[in-house]
Amino acid sequence: MQGIIFNALEEFVLENASMEVWNQVLDDSELASGGIYTAGAVYDDSEVLKLATSLCRILKLPINDGLKLFGTFLFGFLLKNGPIEIQVYKNTQALLVELESVVHRNVKRLHPDAYTPLFEYIPTTRQSGELTYYSKRKLCIVAEGLLTGAANNYHQTVSVEHTECMHDGFERCKWNVTFS
Ligand code: HEM
Repeated sequence: MQGIIFNALEEFVLENASMEVWNQVLDDSELASGGIYTAGAVYDDSEVLKLATSLCRILKLPINDGLKLFGTFLFGFLLKNGPIEIQVYKNTQALLVELESVVHRNVKRLHPDAYTPLFEYIPTTRQSGELTYYSKRKLCIVAEGLLTGAANNYHQTVSVEHTECMHDGFERCKWNVTFS
C-alpha cells in the first residue's frame, strides 16, 4: 500500500482525535516500518489494517464504521495531494467514468509498483449507474467511504445498494449508485 494512504490515516487521526491517540495506535500496532511513512514508498498492506484495527479498538468504533469514515476523509486528502489533472471533474459520475482509465492509471504511471484496484462505472441515467470493483484487498467499505467523500466534495448526495460483495463469495463487488 502506498505511503500516501498512511499519511492520510495519520492526518485523519490528528484531525478527528489527537497526536496522543496516533502515538498510542503506533505503539499498539508493532509495525515493521516503525510507523514512519513516505508518500512515494510502498508498505505492507497488513500495516494499514493493524493501524485501523488498533485505532477502532482505542476509539471503541466498529471496524467497518472506522474504515468507511476513513474512506470519506481519504477522498479529499487524495484530491488535495494527487496530480493536478484529477481536479478537472465537475461531479462524482464524471470522475467514476475515468476512475480506472485516468485517475488510478495516473497513480500507476507515477508509482509503477502501486497495486491499484479495478473499477468500472456504467451509467444507466445521468444520476445513476452500476459500479463494479475488484481488488485483492477487498476494501469495498473504504470504496463506499470514498464515494461519500467524492459526493460531499461535489456537493452531491449518494445512495448505494451493494448488490454483490467479494466478502460473500462473489468475484467482484457491485453497487447500484444514485446521485442527487
Ligand atoms: C470515488 C473515487 C475513488 C474510489 C472509489 C477509489 C477507490 C480506491 C480503493 C478502494 C482503494 C484501496 C486499494 C484497493 O482497493 O486495492 C484505492 C487506492 C488508491 N487510490 Fe483510489 N479511489 C478513488 C479516488 C481516487 C483519487 C481521486 C485518487 C487520487 C490520485 C486516488 C488514488 C489512489 C491511491 C494512490 C491509492 C493507493 C494505491 C496503492 O496503495 O497502491 N483514488 N482507491
